[in-house]
Amino acid sequence: MADSIMKVLVLHGPNLNLTGFREPDVYGKKPLDEIDADIKAAAANLKVEVRVLQSNSEGVLIDTIQEHRRWADAIVINPGGLTHYSIALRDAITSVRLPVVEVHLSNVHAREEFRRHSVISPVTIGQVVGFGGYGYVLAITALLNLEREVV
Ligand code: DQA
Repeated sequence: MADSIMKVLVLHGPNLNLTGFREPDVYGKKPLDEIDADIKAAAANLKVEVRVLQSNSEGVLIDTIQEHRRWADAIVINPGGLTHYSIALRDAITSVRLPVVEVHLSNVHAREEFRRHSVISPVTIGQVVGFGGYGYVLAITALLNLEREVV
Protein backbone atom coordinates (compact mmCIF):
# COMPACT_ATOMS: atom_id res chain seq x y z
CA MET A 1 0.00 0.00 0.00
CA ALA A 2 2.95 2.28 0.84
CA ASP A 3 3.11 4.36 -2.36
CA SER A 4 -0.33 3.79 -3.80
CA ILE A 5 -3.35 5.95 -3.14
CA MET A 6 -5.53 4.83 -0.23
CA LYS A 7 -9.05 3.89 -1.31
CA VAL A 8 -11.90 4.43 1.12
CA LEU A 9 -15.52 3.34 0.80
CA VAL A 10 -17.83 5.76 2.63
CA LEU A 11 -21.30 4.46 3.49
CA HIS A 12 -24.33 6.25 4.89
CA GLY A 13 -27.10 4.04 6.23
CA PRO A 14 -30.88 4.38 6.55
CA ASN A 15 -32.50 7.82 6.74
CA LEU A 16 -29.23 9.69 6.31
CA ASN A 17 -30.47 10.82 2.87
CA LEU A 18 -32.76 13.17 4.83
CA THR A 19 -29.88 14.81 6.69
CA GLY A 20 -30.44 18.57 6.72
CA PHE A 21 -34.21 18.13 6.81
CA ARG A 22 -34.44 15.43 9.48
CA GLU A 23 -34.19 16.65 13.12
CA PRO A 24 -31.76 19.45 12.18
CA ASP A 25 -31.20 20.30 15.85
CA VAL A 26 -29.74 16.80 16.29
CA TYR A 27 -28.15 16.04 12.91
CA GLY A 28 -27.38 19.54 11.62
CA LYS A 29 -28.74 21.64 8.77
CA LYS A 30 -26.29 20.54 6.09
CA PRO A 31 -27.86 18.28 3.43
CA LEU A 32 -26.17 14.97 2.62
CA ASP A 33 -25.14 16.08 -0.87
CA GLU A 34 -23.16 18.96 0.69
CA ILE A 35 -21.61 16.62 3.26
CA ASP A 36 -20.65 14.30 0.39
CA ALA A 37 -19.12 17.22 -1.53
CA ASP A 38 -17.05 18.09 1.57
CA ILE A 39 -15.92 14.45 1.89
CA LYS A 40 -14.84 14.37 -1.77
CA ALA A 41 -13.04 17.72 -1.55
CA ALA A 42 -11.17 16.65 1.60
CA ALA A 43 -10.32 13.29 0.05
CA ALA A 44 -8.91 15.01 -3.04
CA ASN A 45 -6.74 17.23 -0.80
CA LEU A 46 -5.53 14.22 1.15
CA LYS A 47 -4.94 12.29 -2.09
CA VAL A 48 -7.36 9.59 -1.01
CA GLU A 49 -9.73 7.94 -3.48
CA VAL A 50 -13.30 7.73 -2.19
CA ARG A 51 -16.53 6.11 -3.26
CA VAL A 52 -19.59 7.34 -1.40
CA LEU A 53 -23.00 5.67 -1.18
CA GLN A 54 -26.17 6.09 0.86
CA SER A 55 -28.79 3.39 1.14
CA ASN A 56 -31.87 2.81 3.23
CA SER A 57 -31.47 -0.92 2.64
CA GLU A 58 -29.39 -3.16 4.90
CA GLY A 59 -28.96 -5.60 2.00
CA VAL A 60 -27.59 -2.94 -0.35
CA LEU A 61 -25.10 -1.82 2.32
CA ILE A 62 -23.96 -5.42 2.84
CA ASP A 63 -23.71 -6.06 -0.93
CA THR A 64 -21.68 -2.86 -1.35
CA ILE A 65 -19.28 -3.83 1.44
CA GLN A 66 -18.80 -7.28 -0.09
CA GLU A 67 -18.35 -5.90 -3.62
CA HIS A 68 -15.65 -3.49 -2.41
CA ARG A 69 -13.62 -6.02 -0.46
CA ARG A 70 -10.84 -5.99 -3.05
CA TRP A 71 -11.14 -2.34 -4.12
CA ALA A 72 -11.19 -0.70 -0.69
CA ASP A 73 -8.32 -0.30 1.76
CA ALA A 74 -10.74 0.87 4.44
CA ILE A 75 -14.39 1.64 5.12
CA VAL A 76 -15.99 4.61 6.85
CA ILE A 77 -19.59 3.90 7.78
CA ASN A 78 -22.46 5.63 9.49
CA PRO A 79 -24.85 2.71 9.90
CA GLY A 80 -27.70 4.93 11.15
CA GLY A 81 -30.26 2.93 13.13
CA LEU A 82 -28.64 -0.37 12.01
CA THR A 83 -25.82 0.51 14.42
CA HIS A 84 -27.84 -0.67 17.34
CA TYR A 85 -28.96 -4.10 16.15
CA SER A 86 -27.65 -5.28 12.77
CA ILE A 87 -25.61 -8.41 13.32
CA ALA A 88 -25.75 -8.96 9.54
CA LEU A 89 -23.98 -5.65 8.91
CA ARG A 90 -21.44 -6.44 11.60
CA ASP A 91 -20.83 -9.86 10.00
CA ALA A 92 -20.28 -8.19 6.61
CA ILE A 93 -17.61 -6.00 8.20
CA THR A 94 -15.75 -8.90 9.81
CA SER A 95 -16.11 -10.96 6.59
CA VAL A 96 -14.22 -8.49 4.39
CA ARG A 97 -11.38 -8.01 6.91
CA LEU A 98 -10.95 -4.31 6.17
CA PRO A 99 -10.29 -1.59 8.75
CA VAL A 100 -13.53 0.25 9.53
CA VAL A 101 -14.28 3.56 11.25
CA GLU A 102 -17.81 4.14 12.56
CA VAL A 103 -19.16 7.68 12.26
CA HIS A 104 -22.23 9.27 13.83
CA LEU A 105 -23.34 12.82 13.14
CA SER A 106 -24.72 13.18 16.65
CA ASN A 107 -23.09 12.27 19.94
CA VAL A 108 -24.93 8.99 20.39
CA HIS A 109 -23.51 8.64 23.91
CA ALA A 110 -25.36 11.76 25.04
CA ARG A 111 -28.74 10.62 23.73
CA GLU A 112 -31.27 7.87 24.49
CA GLU A 113 -29.95 4.76 26.23
CA PHE A 114 -30.58 2.51 23.18
CA ARG A 115 -28.27 4.69 21.04
CA ARG A 116 -25.35 4.17 23.41
CA HIS A 117 -24.99 0.56 22.37
CA SER A 118 -23.41 -0.27 19.01
CA VAL A 119 -23.13 -3.85 17.74
CA ILE A 120 -20.76 -2.45 15.10
CA SER A 121 -18.12 -0.69 17.23
CA PRO A 122 -16.45 -3.88 18.60
CA VAL A 123 -15.41 -4.73 15.01
CA THR A 124 -14.13 -1.24 14.14
CA ILE A 125 -10.89 0.62 14.76
CA GLY A 126 -12.83 3.38 16.44
CA GLN A 127 -15.75 5.77 16.42
CA VAL A 128 -16.06 9.45 15.50
CA VAL A 129 -19.23 10.87 17.03
CA GLY A 130 -20.79 14.28 17.52
CA PHE A 131 -18.97 16.33 14.88
CA GLY A 132 -21.69 16.32 12.22
CA GLY A 133 -20.60 15.78 8.63
CA TYR A 134 -17.02 16.72 9.48
CA GLY A 135 -16.78 13.37 11.28
CA TYR A 136 -16.31 11.63 7.92
CA VAL A 137 -13.31 13.84 7.12
CA LEU A 138 -11.88 13.16 10.58
CA ALA A 139 -12.34 9.43 10.01
CA ILE A 140 -10.57 9.47 6.62
CA THR A 141 -7.75 11.58 8.05
CA ALA A 142 -7.36 9.15 10.96
CA LEU A 143 -7.23 6.17 8.58
CA LEU A 144 -4.57 7.89 6.49
CA ASN A 145 -2.44 8.58 9.55
CA LEU A 146 -2.87 5.02 10.74
CA GLU A 147 -1.76 3.78 7.34
CA ARG A 148 1.37 5.96 7.53
CA GLU A 149 2.17 4.85 11.08
CA VAL A 150 1.90 1.18 10.18
CA VAL A 151 3.88 1.36 6.92
C1 DQA B 1 -26.96 8.33 13.71
C2 DQA B 1 -27.35 7.92 15.14
C3 DQA B 1 -28.32 6.75 15.12
O1 DQA B 1 -28.70 6.41 16.44
C4 DQA B 1 -29.56 7.10 14.32
O2 DQA B 1 -30.41 5.97 14.23
C5 DQA B 1 -29.25 7.65 12.97
C6 DQA B 1 -28.16 8.61 12.85
C7 DQA B 1 -26.04 9.58 13.70
O3 DQA B 1 -25.42 9.82 12.67
O4 DQA B 1 -25.99 10.32 14.67
O5 DQA B 1 -29.93 7.36 12.00
O6 DQA B 1 -26.21 7.26 13.13
